[in-house]
Amino acid sequence: MRRRIHPISMACVAVLSLAACGGGDADPAAYPESDITFVVPFSAGGPTDTVTRLIAEPMAEELGQQIVVQNVEGAGGTVAAGQVAGEDGDGYQVLIHHIGMSTAPALYPDLDFNPLEDFKTVGLITELPMTIVARSDFEPETLEELLAYVEENVDTVTIANAGVGAASQLCGLLIEQAVGVDLTEVPYDGTGPALTDLIGGQVDFMCDQSVNTVAQLQSGEIKGYAVTTPERIDALPDLPTTAEAGLDGVEVASFHGLYVPSETPDEVVEELTAALKVALADQNVIDSFADLGTAPVAEDQVTPEAHTAKLEEQLDLWTPIIEASGVTVG
Ligand code: MLT
Repeated sequence: MRRRIHPISMACVAVLSLAACGGGDADPAAYPESDITFVVPFSAGGPTDTVTRLIAEPMAEELGQQIVVQNVEGAGGTVAAGQVAGEDGDGYQVLIHHIGMSTAPALYPDLDFNPLEDFKTVGLITELPMTIVARSDFEPETLEELLAYVEENVDTVTIANAGVGAASQLCGLLIEQAVGVDLTEVPYDGTGPALTDLIGGQVDFMCDQSVNTVAQLQSGEIKGYAVTTPERIDALPDLPTTAEAGLDGVEVASFHGLYVPSETPDEVVEELTAALKVALADQNVIDSFADLGTAPVAEDQVTPEAHTAKLEEQLDLWTPIIEASGVTVG
């Protein structure tokens, strides 16, 4: 563990001034000198929030400063991304985002940020499966039955998601396209509250990142139909893949990564990348991720280069699919 005390840190404590403690004219060589805010684009208790809080503690220890987690919900994660894109590039406002970073440009014609131009990537965190899940008393028992039921009951079935641009919305869109239906979508500020309503029976089903669903699937509070990756996952060995369950074309894995505004000095990005590497090698993080059906990415993926390559690949993958679907907002 690295802990560095810089003389300015004491001044920061004394004046409690952000401008003096990492504002626009902060010295990148002295970074970090005060609390860092991790901006989560969805509500507390959901998958992105859970991943953030798991890595924040070891990263804070490594950086020698507190990490404050701030949930800035809205518009499928684009509100938070737009906010961080407009911040000073000093490393004190860090965005965590998922696959939504690569779907937003096609979904939102008036988007106020460009994922590749307005941010620097810090490194990838996870690649994680999605699961198709339903309230425990929902009639269909298998994925095949679900697809038939959805087709027959298109006017009454509800599907929850975290807004247009969320991973859950993208996955739901793929299911709707595969069946050829247009379902009633129930949007939330994150799939944390969506899961609460699913358990309570207020909505019928959703597709969400395993981090949010594994515990409730294991306890039986919700029922599972499939995992959307080519392989089954260790945390849910009995859950078939979409391909095994007969649903081709619904293969989607989300990914989380850290971003800072594009003006952020490279020295600052390097500090964050180094701390992220340490956090992802932390045994507690590895074990917690495994319990939630995922794993940290390989160490060579925890770099700005690998993260940018992933973002570019995902932009290339999803932009034509979304454009073909005709779904846009605004
Ligand atoms: C999503 O559907 O994009 C996520 O599950 C959002 C969240 O982290 O709540």
